[in-house]
Amino acid sequence: MSHRIYITRKIPDVGIKMLQDKGYEFDMYMENQVIPRAEMLSALKEKEYDALLTLLTEHIDAEVFDTAPSVKIVSNYAVGFNNVDVVEANKRGIVVANTPGASTSAVAEFTVALILALTHKLIDADQFMRDGKYKGWDPYIFLGTELAGKTLGLIGAGRIGSEAARMLSHGLGMKIKYYDTRRNDVIEKECGAVFVSSIEELLPLADVVSIHVPLLPTTHHLLNRDHFKLMKKTAILINTSRGPVVDETALVTALREGLCAGAALDVYENEPHIADGLDMLPNVILTPHIGSATDIARDTMAVMAAQNIIEFFEGEEVKNKVVVS
Ligand code: GLV
Ligand code: GLV
Repeated sequence: MSHRIYITRKIPDVGIKMLQDKGYEFDMYMENQVIPRAEMLSALKEKEYDALLTLLTEHIDAEVFDTAPSVKIVSNYAVGFNNVDVVEANKRGIVVANTPGASTSAVAEFTVALILALTHKLIDADQFMRDGKYKGWDPYIFLGTELAGKTLGLIGAGRIGSEAARMLSHGLGMKIKYYDTRRNDVIEKECGAVFVSSIEELLPLADVVSIHVPLLPTTHHLLNRDHFKLMKKTAILINTSRGPVVDETALVTALREGLCAGAALDVYENEPHIADGLDMLPNVILTPHIGSATDIARDTMAVMAAQNIIEFFEGEEVKNKVVVS
């Protein structure tokens, strides 16, 4: 029996080929844009699909499951899975799977890049050159700060957070303090990371705060106005996880008031929109959700997203099945 898959946007060929080689039938949205919801729903009405291969830009919820009642698996081309209503899926016996680990190095490296870009004022300096403002060596322009001996306050010590901690401690000599709902013995051993039992205790200790948690009901606005008051005035905030983990409007106010020194954001509360005033702040770097945008990470995500579907159709255990408690 052939299986039919709907793919909401073109993913790298390596994943498509795996599905083709299995002889599965599939339809794929071919426009190079986020699929409009109405188009996705109307495509799902046209045929009976057994599987969905989705991106983080699609909200996969009860309405989608009602529209495509034959779907038995949703494979999300992302490590994050907040765009899928997993509880609703599981209620209906639909498996949800993701691509954990595919983008660990990419996002960790990107985190380091954002930290260095902020602490060395790279973006402003580049703009200064392009504006023709450089008039000769100046001992006082673009003075940055160094990371050796400074403290990383890690919020979330999963794969990505741990890898960022490794890079920043081993490579750049930072001290690591971390908060998570679970202790992580590996980074304690490998990086001398010190566990702190609440975010409130972590924030006053950190020179760089970096967030690496999934977006869950419990992590929505994990950082709010009260938290920014606890940060060192010299500290910077990095968010490469999911926008709603940070109260973005409160962050704009905090930056304006100088409660913290800067921020680098790759994700936004109402993506692709950004909070009013965010782009007017000088000490902020904004990137368009590109943490996992490397050739290797994206190919690996495609392979894993395809593999999830293949495992399911072949009756095997879906190794990257998302489990929510
Ligand atoms: C990207 O944000 C991902 O979740 O893979
Ligand atoms: C992602 O893979 C994480 O666990 O941080």
